[in-house]
Amino acid sequence: MVTAMMKPLSRVLWLGCVLVFCFQVLVPCGLPGACGLDNGLAMTPTMGWLHWERFMCNVNCQEEPDSCISEKLFLQIAEIMASDGWKDVGYEYICIDDCWMAPERDSKGRLQADPKRFPGGIRHLANYVHSKGLKLGIYADVGNKTCAGFPGSFGYYDIDAQTFADWGVDLLKFDGCYCDSIQHLAEGYKQMSLALNRTGRSIVYSCEWPLYMWPIFKPNYTEIREYCNHWRNFADIYDSWQSIRNTLDWTSSNQKIIVPVAGPGGWNDPDMLVIGNFGLSRDQQITQMALWAIMAAPLLMSNDLRHISPEAKALLQDKDVIAINQDRLGKQGYRLRKENNFEVWERPLLNLAWAVAIVNLQEIGGPRSYTISVTSLGRGLACNPDCLITELLPEKRKLGFYEWTSKDKKYKTVRQCNTVHCNQTWTALPATSTDY
Ligand code: GLA
Repeated sequence: MVTAMMKPLSRVLWLGCVLVFCFQVLVPCGLPGACGLDNGLAMTPTMGWLHWERFMCNVNCQEEPDSCISEKLFLQIAEIMASDGWKDVGYEYICIDDCWMAPERDSKGRLQADPKRFPGGIRHLANYVHSKGLKLGIYADVGNKTCAGFPGSFGYYDIDAQTFADWGVDLLKFDGCYCDSIQHLAEGYKQMSLALNRTGRSIVYSCEWPLYMWPIFKPNYTEIREYCNHWRNFADIYDSWQSIRNTLDWTSSNQKIIVPVAGPGGWNDPDMLVIGNFGLSRDQQITQMALWAIMAAPLLMSNDLRHISPEAKALLQDKDVIAINQDRLGKQGYRLRKENNFEVWERPLLNLAWAVAIVNLQEIGGPRSYTISVTSLGRGLACNPDCLITELLPEKRKLGFYEWTSKDKKYKTVRQCNTVHCNQTWTALPATSTDY
């Protein structure tokens, strides 16, 4: 698919690329908020699995015992995460979303799992998950009810935080439905953060605070990252290319506000990976994986790991792309350019490397060419004076040695894959380094 030679003036690649380059100039950690919520967690974006997009609020275990929200689902997914290579590449948190609760609190005011669907209770589930070397996430809501109408945590923040800690929970996704005021929303998110802290247990705190704030006024991200380990900004992801596009559009339109605030301990969350489901073509799945890596997004898959194609599995377990996502420099990437229905995204990485993604957004016609000057990448410093470039997606291959000179620019030509939304990932390292 990709022509790759050592030093041609132009190269034919296939369209929609994710490149990873390497060179000097990195932005040091130390910008405002670079340390995030001071619980020592999520120093790189959280990786795991979250039930919502794929399984939603299916509580009908009688008719759909394999896909209803029950302990069986989580026990099975945990087993597979540990045995099928997921844990080995970094997926660690298995997370319950909405609809796990019984409709009422217990006599002491504590949340309880639905006794029919979770007969062993959450502590039992947590024990099993921990025995597999994994961590357990749970869901609650800052307001009077969860989005699906189960008991909300308003008025119970300390009790709920303590209950989760007692059960051995390791992550809380805290939703923002049924809040009666903006003050309630903001104060609630803060209070729950402090309540989790007071339990003394390490619990990753996943917020939706800015998502619910935006319709009213611009969120204060500096404050949000003082309280949350990651935060949703935009609408729920669906299993569709339109949904991925909307999320990318929102992210690039707001990148001046949201990119600088991301860093170790606090991340923008563009929502779940839907790779391995029904709605995305192969190329669109590649695009999601590549762009979620560039965006330093939490990698929370929502799919059925019991039934997943080898291609989707290989993509989700791609170690090179995961390494970009988990890069310890912790700088979120951004959209560099948009022209002629192409987008170029880039992300600075540790050791002077850069990740670059090229996306073809045109939804008519066949493969298209795109030419990039390496001088335009990485704030003008990528490949200066030279670099090694490796394509990572759609296939890993070395593209070789590139030089930056003002007189003699080297170009890379990118052509579309045989379907319209095709992505590639390249890596470039200084020519003096060993291979990526
Ligand atoms: C909201 C959230 C989703 C999911 C549902 C559950 O819509 O944004 O991610 O948690 O609630 O009801």
